[in-house]
Amino acid sequence: MTAPVRDETPLLALDRVEVVYDGIVVALRGVSLVVPPRSIVALLGSNGAGKSTTLKAASGLLAAERGEVRAGTVAFRGSPIGARSPLALVREGLVQVLEGRHCFPHLTVEENLATGVFARKASRADLRESIERTYMRFPGLRDRRRSLAGLLSGGEQQMLAIGRALVGKPTLVLLDEPSMGLAPKIVETIFALLRDLHEEDGISFLLAEQNAAAALAVADFAYVLETGRVVIQGAASEVRARDDVRQLYLGVRTRESRAPRPPAPAEGESLPRC
Ligand SMILES: Nc1ncnc2c1ncn2[C@@H]1O[C@H](COP(=O)(O)OP(=O)(O)O)[C@@H](O)[C@H]1O
Ligand SMILES: [Mg+2]
Repeated sequence: MTAPVRDETPLLALDRVEVVYDGIVVALRGVSLVVPPRSIVALLGSNGAGKSTTLKAASGLLAAERGEVRAGTVAFRGSPIGARSPLALVREGLVQVLEGRHCFPHLTVEENLATGVFARKASRADLRESIERTYMRFPGLRDRRRSLAGLLSGGEQQMLAIGRALVGKPTLVLLDEPSMGLAPKIVETIFALLRDLHEEDGISFLLAEQNAAAALAVADFAYVLETGRVVIQGAASEVRARDDVRQLYLGVRTRESRAPRPPAPAEGESLPRC
């Protein structure tokens, strides 16, 4: 008798992807990465490294910004996304939460959540159940269900943006800089929620972040981008332990980074003038 084979087809696989904007600005220079089933993958890198471009290449949203995948392939659940529209991908379970926590400011929290169902045919009962499940995850949103989204705090708006994605019942959420501009305590709360959604509901995340410490604390795997290339990859625990990552992305002064102090001037010797 043969043992059952576990389906290890990655949820998302980018293979040597090159992206250009306006036919001229090269943003990705051969990015390869995988998001295995039931995983959280951190995509780290400083401003302009190509994190948002990578997410948009995966969700089919590049065309809206005159960007295109010039070479390489993007596959979702084993099949190249090719000509599939962003809407078709959302229907298949791939949802992106854009950078900057886009909400509809003049709609209430609950109306914003209801828009999350746009890609699937949902009955009223189904929508109600999806929204209730989101409120269970984000009780603060239930308390503010009748408030206009534009009046929420930054943290609440980020939760609303994630909550709206959840209403679409995703398998994989591409989450762009959820920590941006938020206080450390709020970031901690949001990242703990991501972990719960992952562990209890089986949702996977590709998490683009400049806040490497927060992302590495919840991620299983990590990739570091620099000017459109993957320069470091591995298990999150290994990436977190690397001296170069600690020094450049976690702000830790490692032994190598401590420049030798200049020798103290001998007695009577004058200090160099500035
Ligand atoms: N819509 C766009 N048009 C032209 N260039 C863009 C556009 N979006 C991003 N870029 C460029 O692509 C590169 C990667 O940007 P981005 O993916 O936004 O990086 P990150 O999200 O890591 O900050 C940058 O050089 C940026 O200026
Ligand atoms: Mg970005």
